[in-house]
Amino acid sequence: MQFSTSSGNPAKTRTQCVLVGIYENNKLSDTAKLFDKASKGYLKKVIGRGDISGKAGQTLMLHDVPGINAPRVMLVGCGDINGATGARYLQMLKAAVATLKKSSAISALCCLTETGAGKNDLAWKTRRLAEAFTSGNYSLTRLKGKPPASDNALQSVDVYVADKKSNAAAKAALADGSAIGMGISFAKDLGNLPGNICTPTYLADESKKLAKAYKSLTCKVLDEKEMQKLGMGSLLSVGHGSAEPSKLIVIQHKGGKAKAKPHVLVGKGITFDTGGISLKSAGTMYDMIYDMCGAASVMGAMKTVAEQNLPINIIAVIAAAENMPSDRATRPGDIVTSMSGQTIEVLNTDAEGRLVLCDALTYVDKFDPETVIDVATLTGACVVALGSHASALYANDDKLAQDITEAGEDSLDRVWRMPLWDEYQPQINSAFADMANIGGPQAGSITAACFLSRFTKKYRWAHLDIAGSAFKGGTTTKGSTGRPVGLLVQYLMDRVAESK
Ligand code: BES
Ligand code: MN
Ligand code: ZN
Repeated sequence: MQFSTSSGNPAKTRTQCVLVGIYENNKLSDTAKLFDKASKGYLKKVIGRGDISGKAGQTLMLHDVPGINAPRVMLVGCGDINGATGARYLQMLKAAVATLKKSSAISALCCLTETGAGKNDLAWKTRRLAEAFTSGNYSLTRLKGKPPASDNALQSVDVYVADKKSNAAAKAALADGSAIGMGISFAKDLGNLPGNICTPTYLADESKKLAKAYKSLTCKVLDEKEMQKLGMGSLLSVGHGSAEPSKLIVIQHKGGKAKAKPHVLVGKGITFDTGGISLKSAGTMYDMIYDMCGAASVMGAMKTVAEQNLPINIIAVIAAAENMPSDRATRPGDIVTSMSGQTIEVLNTDAEGRLVLCDALTYVDKFDPETVIDVATLTGACVVALGSHASALYANDDKLAQDITEAGEDSLDRVWRMPLWDEYQPQINSAFADMANIGGPQAGSITAACFLSRFTKKYRWAHLDIAGSAFKGGTTTKGSTGRPVGLLVQYLMDRVAESK
């Protein structure tokens, strides 16, 4: 998708479709007013018919509007003119992108940044626009026997910038938004690919490809032998029952000074989670193709920061394994030794995410990180607690928690902080080992975080449980959301701004 800015008269601009906002109660945006005038009242006449009321998320495609050069004009509902919020702005964009996708327009002029988005400024609106157009155009079609010719006709989007002085800022915002959209689409793709295609080796290969595509990136993949040498008995216990070899993937973005401490992202990459010997029930086990969405979001964020060439150092570490039952699989009750030296009693082989993450979290200490954020579809309990709108946030550092919360509000990829109080720790006590990998029926997302906290004492750390936010499960309408790529990138961009 090509993005550019345009400051000419939208009524005269050569494009295949112009997107124009209208509010509830027959209120028109500036461009809608202009078009109404140019078409001698045509727009008001159409709106008066009642087919579109201006509610946020409504769209109406008009053809051959008199006085307008473009063959199509899409009216886009923006809601009550006084009630604009960032979330509503995104809802409107999403609807506009979906309607445009159904048309065969290959170019569009978008005049929607002149509509309100709460406290957010023009740069924010422009960035979100590019992000929505890039990631909204995503669909996984290549696994159909006969992939559809293409339902993504759209090739270029111009954003109308009324005030030419804002042109440079708008262009920069478009570049950022497009980079974020690409990262989100990449994460969606990895998330949606099924377990027989997206294996730990596939994640490693995709990471290597990423590093080939961007100069700032390098990639190193540790195999089982190397992990064995490092003492990663916990991580390795998860993939032991699988024919697919486990991988530890390290992607580095060197954008800052050589000595500047890196921000580290760690992703849970369980490419399929059967539960292992503690086998899951058949019900919705198929949703567990999404159990590598943490890894996908981290890889997506790396693609974006490389695209943006952010001037800081960032390292992604992905703990990739497949959780399968077999004669070689870890048994409930087995005790394994983690890289940290702490021993773990595996009471339930379905609590495998924490087992791969704890060794990755010990491993990253060698980078002397500024901050570490791990991202994981870790617990069903998290979905019960927060549903799909917020990711659960845990942190051993208040400033880090605050920074992530703010990045969530800004990107609208939001988090909600949960407690990591010492009072919860005894729930993961073990009779024979240093800890157990489950903490009983209460506070399951919290006790999982407590488990990780025992491996992250040496640095500022946060954990995101994205079990509810990363994907929508089911059979026909399922899909990865690409979250929390938007949050992670915003957090990293804020660190760049902070260092200036
Ligand atoms: N991958 C699952 C968590 C999950 C569940 C993610 C639903 C997304 C949607 C994780 O590995 C798991 O199985 N967790 C168990 C932990 C339990 C055995 C302590 C769970 O949540 O039931
Ligand atoms: Mn599991
Ligand atoms: Zn899992």
